[in-house]
Amino acid sequence: MKIIRTVRGLRLWRKRHSSERLGLGFVPTMGAFHIGHQSLMQRARRSCETVVVSIFVNPLQFGPTEDLGEYPRPRQTDLALCRKEGVDVVFLPSRKEFYPPDFQSSVTVSRLGQHWEGAHRRTHFQGVTTVVTKLFNLVRPHRVYFGQKDYQQFCIIKQMVRDLHQGVDMVMCPTIRESDGLALSSRNGYLSSLARRTAPVLYHALHLGASSIRDGEKSSASVEALMQSYVQKASKAKIDYLAVCHAETLEPLQRAQGRMVLLGAVRLGKVRLIDNVLVKNQK
Ligand code: PAJ
Repeated sequence: MKIIRTVRGLRLWRKRHSSERLGLGFVPTMGAFHIGHQSLMQRARRSCETVVVSIFVNPLQFGPTEDLGEYPRPRQTDLALCRKEGVDVVFLPSRKEFYPPDFQSSVTVSRLGQHWEGAHRRTHFQGVTTVVTKLFNLVRPHRVYFGQKDYQQFCIIKQMVRDLHQGVDMVMCPTIRESDGLALSSRNGYLSSLARRTAPVLYHALHLGASSIRDGEKSSASVEALMQSYVQKASKAKIDYLAVCHAETLEPLQRAQGRMVLLGAVRLGKVRLIDNVLVKNQK
């Protein structure tokens, strides 16, 4: 496995490396790997000739009061895991390498980026789309792998790829969960033991909402009320949003119909959890 730390090094590698037959698969990450990340690498490994993983804690996507400084960076364990999963190249740039002092460009996806997470973390998605564009420009992958866990992120990047003709195939991989339903996240380690015990409440509420839709509930307001009261009864979590949305535009729906995504974010102490469930109702 090759570890590349510079932009120049990555460019050189890519120039020499043409893998057209089964393609070049790319998994962008911020490290602190768990089985969720691992599942993306495995999926890429199964379908692509060459697999590139990037590990970069992107300062642009953290707000001024967020956890950039504390974000876990267990580099040796991360690299060992990449090796185990048969990754060919790890791109591991420093902050200075990736954002030189005169860096001043950005990429914005306007409408999709304003809802939900975008409303709570104002500069977050612009940071994500900017870093992902830079990475796509360097790696020039054929196929890229993202988790459903960050559903809005996936939709925004998909829109960006389409709008800017970035020419990569987007693959969405299922959310990997703990046995009690909590979606794996590099930030779950911040949860106190009490918060950890109540954390699955978010997934259970979304699951309950999806079941009520499958059972014929048509009013989004009723589904949302059901999810809210479940969270309030089962925990002390503060709800940022629990919403029934169109699966592609992410607009809130009044009638629970068609292809939908139930999006949720709650705060447990200082830890913010997000999750989502896809649901379909054609009737
Ligand atoms: P990060 O949080 O490290 O996540 C990297 C990828 O792993 C994302 O596609 C994310 O959706 C996926 N992932 C995280 N938890 C998962 C889980 N439980 N199951 C399945 N997949 C999961 O997302 C980012 O980094 C950054 O925003 C990035 C795209 C790298 C840009 O900086």
